[in-house]
Amino acid sequence: MNTNIITIDGPTSSGKNSVGFLLSQKLGYQYIDTGMIYRVGTYLVLKQNINLNDVLQITGIFKDLNLEIKKSNGGLIILNNGADLTSQLHSKEVTDAVSKVAAYKEVREVTKLIQRKLGVLENTVMTGRDIGSEIFPEAKHKFYLTADVKVRAKRRFDQLVKLDSTVQYEDVLNSMIERDKKDSIREVSPLRIPEGAVVIDNTSLNIEQTVSEVLKHIHV
Ligand code: DC
Repeated sequence: MNTNIITIDGPTSSGKNSVGFLLSQKLGYQYIDTGMIYRVGTYLVLKQNINLNDVLQITGIFKDLNLEIKKSNGGLIILNNGADLTSQLHSKEVTDAVSKVAAYKEVREVTKLIQRKLGVLENTVMTGRDIGSEIFPEAKHKFYLTADVKVRAKRRFDQLVKLDSTVQYEDVLNSMIERDKKDSIREVSPLRIPEGAVVIDNTSLNIEQTVSEVLKHIHV
């Protein structure tokens, strides 16, 4: 592999996406948030009314993806066959279905190829759940971000309440505990600390401080 890959894994709202983006800016690397790939596939599955138990058809959707992930206006956008699907990815329907879709071994085999292809094109920061363990186990720099679940739930709550003032913190916390459990106990590629990863607990760090902590371990 001729490109540098920095992998960042961690549970939901551990700050990996903000950290990954800022880190990529500082290093002049491309940034790939792999959650977007699972979300785009899941959005298309739902749009085509495919049954969530129909692994063959679901895998077919992922095989047909033709993705481009790029920076735009201080964030990431994702295009499939040239169509920008970014605004569709965080609906309740997609968020509810994506864990189930992402748990299929067949889906993960296809997304692995997509992620490897994207990562070898240029120097890359890639974030997800299994990047350092399954997708680029050979990466020189691997990180695992985490934070207390109550702090992560508060971060998520602060984002959600801007969109819907009726959201309750307790509900966000409970759903986060549930999602952590699902992502950690699934049979295929469960969320875990990759071998050789530096663990950073950012319970009391902001994004800038977390990036500084990451940079202390990187020599490019
Ligand atoms: O990071 P996120 O919430 O956008 O990810 C969406 C879902 O996709 C989440 O339920 C876990 C799954 N996912 C995964 O299994 N592996 C990845 N590398 C990235 C995301």
